[in-house]
Amino acid sequence: MSTNPVFNDNKLKLGTFCTNGRGATHSLAPEANQLTWPLALEVAREVDRAGYEAVVPYARWKGYIKAKPNHVSGEVLDPFTWAAAIAQATRQVGVFVTSHAPTIHPIVVAKQTATIDIISNGRLALNVVGGWNRPELEMFGAPLREHDQRYDYLAEWLDILKRLWRSTEEFDHHGDFFDVVQAISNPKPVQRPHPPIMNAGHSDRGRRFACEHADLCFIGIHSEAPESIRAEIEKYKNMAREQFGRDVQVWAHSYVVQRDTQREADDFVDYYAVRHQDRESIDGLIALSVPEVKDMPREKWEAVRTRYAAGFGGFPLVGTAGRIAERLTMLSDAGLDGVLLTWIDFVDGAQRFNRDVLPLLEQAGLRKPFAAA
Ligand SMILES: Cc1cc2nc3c(=O)[nH]c(=O)nc-3n(C[C@H](O)[C@H](O)[C@H](O)COP(=O)(O)O)c2cc1C
Repeated sequence: MSTNPVFNDNKLKLGTFCTNGRGATHSLAPEANQLTWPLALEVAREVDRAGYEAVVPYARWKGYIKAKPNHVSGEVLDPFTWAAAIAQATRQVGVFVTSHAPTIHPIVVAKQTATIDIISNGRLALNVVGGWNRPELEMFGAPLREHDQRYDYLAEWLDILKRLWRSTEEFDHHGDFFDVVQAISNPKPVQRPHPPIMNAGHSDRGRRFACEHADLCFIGIHSEAPESIRAEIEKYKNMAREQFGRDVQVWAHSYVVQRDTQREADDFVDYYAVRHQDRESIDGLIALSVPEVKDMPREKWEAVRTRYAAGFGGFPLVGTAGRIAERLTMLSDAGLDGVLLTWIDFVDGAQRFNRDVLPLLEQAGLRKPFAAA
């Protein structure tokens, strides 16, 4: 039996995302999450007690605003050391590391992840990203590789990492990107054959990589239509099954605003993501990641900006607890296995969600009641 809760039998798994930094919002409202260790710890403990399956950090080396190198968008704690400490402070939740493969050698990652897997007693998972943000990777003095080649590199990197996790013999590896000589890494991780891998590849090459190598595929949901959400999820599951003989889970990111009425929830989004939008930060992010939005009609562009400001472009869960549970049920019915949640204020948001939405998810049969040990 796996020690990692991401493989438990809850139909819809839950996690948090981005608590190692300022979070997923781009807002100047005073409620916006601050980067402090006590807050990161409090959220992790709150969701650990509630039986969530995942706490996932994001990986970022540099902020988004060229003219402001000290902007808060660059304030993100190192995911490895963060995960080691979160692992020690929690009892059952899956603890993720997010790693930019081009910035770190697989021998270092094998050792660090085995260490965190041992600290957490088999609860580590690794989210591997190839990198997309040119300025942050160019700080390392190497050019950002051409898009598809980033995934070739990632595949070779992961292949070496998995061998290091498994092999009790020294091995050599001479590939396109690495020369590894008489390599071995001990101790091994607790999880066998290895800790779960997550990847958020989205392009054709990225999806292929995720389906071939990842246990959890992390996607963005940009549609409201259940049928097209189902089709997107099935693209991953079918490719993994048909081309690689594997079963993968599909997870997505959602931002949550829960209030007693729909009106209050909508007004709160308007308050923090429109009226207090950090426009400078959003402009920087959009210029780097989705420059094509500039060509959109103004109204559509503003809607995209709001969604990024509200929660990094995640799927909106905005409304009453009942409405949020209904939308999560829709995602689960469409085949989604897990959802990573973000709030403008993680502690307040997770407490409301755990009090009001979790029982509804249990009633709907999406999750079993959790009794903390
Ligand atoms: C929900 C989600 C979370 C992501 N988190 C990170 C991250 O923490 N750091 C990062 O550099 N990239 C992150 N990415 C970007 C992905 O690694 C990837 O570059 C992106 O999805 C584009 O996929 P493609 O290269 O196949 O086009 C994330 C993507 C998604 C959808």
